[in-house]
Amino acid sequence: MTHAASPYEALYRDLERAFGDRALRDAPMSERINFRVGGPADMLIAPTDVEGLQTLFRLIDGSGVPTFILASGTNLVVRDGGIRGVVIDMTRGFDELEFSPGPNGATHLRVGAARQVRDVVEACAERGLAGMEWGAGIPGTVGGGIKGNAGTRDGDFAGTLIEVAMVHPDGELRVYARDELRFEYRGLAMDRPFIVVRGLLRLRDGDPAAIRRAIDDMIAWRNQRQPYEMPSAGSIFKNPEHAPAGRLIDQAGLKGTRVGNAMVSDVHTNFIVNLGGARAADIIELIGIVKARVLEVHGIELRTEVILVGEDPDEADPAPAPEAAHVER
Ligand code: EPU
Repeated sequence: MTHAASPYEALYRDLERAFGDRALRDAPMSERINFRVGGPADMLIAPTDVEGLQTLFRLIDGSGVPTFILASGTNLVVRDGGIRGVVIDMTRGFDELEFSPGPNGATHLRVGAARQVRDVVEACAERGLAGMEWGAGIPGTVGGGIKGNAGTRDGDFAGTLIEVAMVHPDGELRVYARDELRFEYRGLAMDRPFIVVRGLLRLRDGDPAAIRRAIDDMIAWRNQRQPYEMPSAGSIFKNPEHAPAGRLIDQAGLKGTRVGNAMVSDVHTNFIVNLGGARAADIIELIGIVKARVLEVHGIELRTEVILVGEDPDEADPAPAPEAAHVER
């Protein structure tokens, strides 16, 4: 794909010099997000530690280049035209995993942002430590999970964290105690932009067999009720106050609705699945159809939980049209 010369060309050269093979031009985002859709990022940088992140922020300071923070891409739709500016890839380095004794018989776990939630759940289970069972089956990294306050009805990051370390774009590394952080339902509100670099979790001694059973049960439950065979981004919509999005969508008769190769899952209607070769535009159109229909049938406005980023393709530079770009019911 060819773009007009970027106004950030000089900056991109500096970044390539500073980050070597951890700087990537025209990085395909479809390879980096679960949904397997989306155009390339102009520049993708993978810092592996706090110093790298601070170097990156120093280099881009004052340039005005847009930035986007990428973790595992489990909750993301990137539009077909890709992402202009710098994507900060937080899936490399940042991998500490250190248990230590805490007060009142608790155990603390210091964990880097790039660690998979799955690894944390497993590491706790192996040691007979309780407190992270709710994370069983949750995809993605600890950093992404903290930022989105990932969780289930049984627990979430907000309820398990003691503190979170973040780097701000001015380069400051700051550790926030739990009571300084405003977690929300699937979110964390901060007054300044931030990147999570690690968390400190509170665990307690538990019965290893019971912990293992809770994890196995959760994963079995998810495998039965959520579509895992096909690319998706988990729940597309937040649950509104009075009824789960999945039920509202199902009752509106939307199960199996298709736009191109994006489909409202017939396993769980709050999931959209990529049947293979879907475009971001198909997914976004389908999201619009679901919202409009649920509003019509239930009078409820659904809000997306999934994050949408990037740009539509230029008119002159369209994404390849799929074979069946029509709506099907
Ligand atoms: N339902 C239907 N039809 C469907 C799917 C669900 O009628 O096709 C009904 C179910 O019968 C149930 C209700 O909707 O009564 C809720 O469904 P479910 O129990 O599957 O949970 P959910 O509220 O849809 C939430 C999280 C999931 C998480 C599960 C399990 C949100 C938006 N979603 O789903 O999180 O895995 O609970 O804890 O909070 C995610 O965040 O990506 C995600 C998958």
